[in-house]
Parts: sequence; structure tokens; C-alpha cells
Amino acid sequence: MDTKINIGMFGYGSVGQGFYKALKSSPQLDAQIKNIVVKSKHKKRDIAEEHFSFHAEDILENSDIKIVVELIDDANAAYKIVKTALRSGKHVVSANKKMIAHHLEELITISRQNNTSFLYEASVCASIPIIRNLEDYFKSDKIKGFQGICNGTTNYVLSRTGQGLSYKEALQEAQKLGFAESDPTLDVDGFDAKFKLGILIKHAFGIYVTLDKIFNCGIRHIRSEHVEFAKQFNYKFKLFSFAQHIEDKVIGFVAPFLVDQQHPNFNVENEFNAINIDSKFAHQQFFYGKGAGSEPTASAVLSDFSALLNQYKYSYTKTQIQNFSFTTNFYLKIYLASPNFKTLNQIPFQKTEQIHQSKNYSYKIGWLNFESIAGIDFNKNLDLFFAVYQEPFKLSLED
Ligand code: HSE
Repeated sequence: MDTKINIGMFGYGSVGQGFYKALKSSPQLDAQIKNIVVKSKHKKRDIAEEHFSFHAEDILENSDIKIVVELIDDANAAYKIVKTALRSGKHVVSANKKMIAHHLEELITISRQNNTSFLYEASVCASIPIIRNLEDYFKSDKIKGFQGICNGTTNYVLSRTGQGLSYKEALQEAQKLGFAESDPTLDVDGFDAKFKLGILIKHAFGIYVTLDKIFNCGIRHIRSEHVEFAKQFNYKFKLFSFAQHIEDKVIGFVAPFLVDQQHPNFNVENEFNAINIDSKFAHQQFFYGKGAGSEPTASAVLSDFSALLNQYKYSYTKTQIQNFSFTTNFYLKIYLASPNFKTLNQIPFQKTEQIHQSKNYSYKIGWLNFESIAGIDFNKNLDLFFAVYQEPFKLSLED
């Protein structure tokens, strides 16, 4: 009798292939992939055809399959698969950050109602075990905040523009190397980093914030003048998925930050991801690793799968013990630049610390209320680029 644990897998792209290989090299897990459901019938694949099928029901309606591993690109299709699998009592491992960030609360409820486990370590920073650490290691500690480089493509582009490449050249390189999403707008405009931020906020602070409430500004408008500005002060630009707890509020957004040499993320280059967490008792911790790619992403899927075999579930302890609300009403210090000085005056600063004006490049540095910029779509505004300074965020400018 075959006693192996049967897995049903959706998708056989780069992560699916990575997981297939990782599982093959882990005989101690005593598991097998029973069926792989894929979309295209005609694609050439590196394993025998008999492994594949083209109908989701072959997995979802097979009672011998108790564990579903969902590794497809299409967020809508992934949502249907995961929902149906959880409802039919199957445990699910998924890597689909977009789908999870959009539907997290509902999927948590469904998995609770059906006494199933829903794990998704691979969805945030791939090989960096950040979700499990927030859930388990930091269960009783209080997270003060984190700053994450959660998108490899933009970090790669920022590294390469720092070395003198144009934005366009750098993005083309990142696309060739395979880190970018099939739609790279998701990377460069900070959407991918926002999906990951939404998931992290849930595990760090216990609240689910709908994505329309989280501001994301990417790096599409970075120019050599901004890079030179940063270099002058030994700063670098890093796109952060940022969140922090201030009093009983949580603030969080995705934007470029100007970081100095003392910052733990200063030397995180190219496609690498990193998250530095500050907590009440552990203080600063720094996580660093590969946030994309076949094997690093598969390592997280494999780890979730092993955890499932030990009946592991996320406990969402922070949701049970904390009662924070999300706010955009706070003050921060920014660098705001434009080719046209007049454009800068559209943004109301509360306190201006520096002004620079020249023919094709002007900037202001100063403090403003985040609400005055949160409604602006900087990704679509060719004339504005901003980055956040490493200064404490404040709920009021009086203190
Ligand atoms: N496009 C993503 C990135 C892939 O660049 O980080 C991993 O989520």
C-alpha cells in the first residue's frame, strides 16, 4: 500500500519546478506530487506527461489529496483554487502574494471554518522566513516597526542606477535576469512591495488593511540628478515596505527612502531582499536573503509543507491581543524633486528645511502631513519624485 502523503500542485513554472526538485531531494518527508494541474497542453516540460492534468477538479475533487500547493501566476484563478481547496478540507500552501494580500481575511476565515491550514511563507521575500518568525518567535514580543526591501526588481534597478545605468537600462537587465513580474509595473510602481507589506502588517500588528488604503510610490521616475543628490551625502535610495506602530496607531506605506551608511539595509544590493525589524524586547533584528527565484522561493514552499506535516497553523496572535488602527495622519520628512520648481509648490510643506532651484532640477526638503501626499499617484506624475528621510515619524509636529 502506498502510504506517501499526496500533494496536488497547481502550476509548473519556475517555482513549481523548484518545489518538485526540492521535494525529490527530501525523501524523509515521505510525500509525492500526485498530480500537477497546468494551463497549457502544448508546453514542453522536463518531466513525463503522466504527471500533468488540465482540470482543477482532478486535484480539488480527489479525496486522496489532502494538501494543495498553489504556484500559479494568475491571482484570480489562484483565489478560486485556494478557496475551493480550503472549503473541501484540504490544507493549502500558496506563494501568490497578490491573491493573498487581496483576500487574506476571507481566506483565514474559510480555513478556520474548515479546520484547515493555510500557509504562505513564500509570498513575502521568498527564502527569508519572515512570516513564521513574526508568528512564532515574535509571538509575545511587541513589534515596533520594520523596514523591508521586499522587491528584488526595484532593488536591482536602484543598485544599477546607483552605478550609472539609466532607469530603462537597469530595468531591462532585471527583466532579462527573470526577477520582474510578467507585468513589471507591479514591481516598479511598488504594487508587489505593497502586497507583501499588507501581509506583513497582518502578522506584525494584527490588522488587515485593504490595499486601497496603503499608499505605494515606486521608483519609475528616478533620474541621475536624484542619484547624484543621494551620493553627495553618502545616501542610497531603497524602496521600503515600511510599517511602524506609534501609540495605538499603525502607519505603513511603500516609497523610496534615503538611507545612510549606518542603516542595516544600506548594503543590500541587487535582487536581494532584507527586512530589519525593531521589537520591544529583541530590539533590532536583520533578515537577509534571496526574495525571488526558483530554489529560494521553493525553499519556503518546502518549509511550509514540512510545517503542515506537523499540523502547523498560523495563530494570528497579534490579531487576538492587539487593537491598533491604521492611520495616514502623521508627519514625515521628505525630499521632493521636480524638473520644474513651480510643481513643487503644489505640495504643502508644514516646515521647509532646504530649497534648491536650478534650470531642470529643483527640490525641497521638509516636513509634511502624509495625508497631503497620500492621495497623489506619484507613479503617474512624471514631474515629481520623492523619498523619505530617516527621521522619526510623528503624529504631531508639536513634540
Ligand atoms: N517580482 C518580484 C521581485 C518577484 O522582484 O521581488 C518575487 O516576489
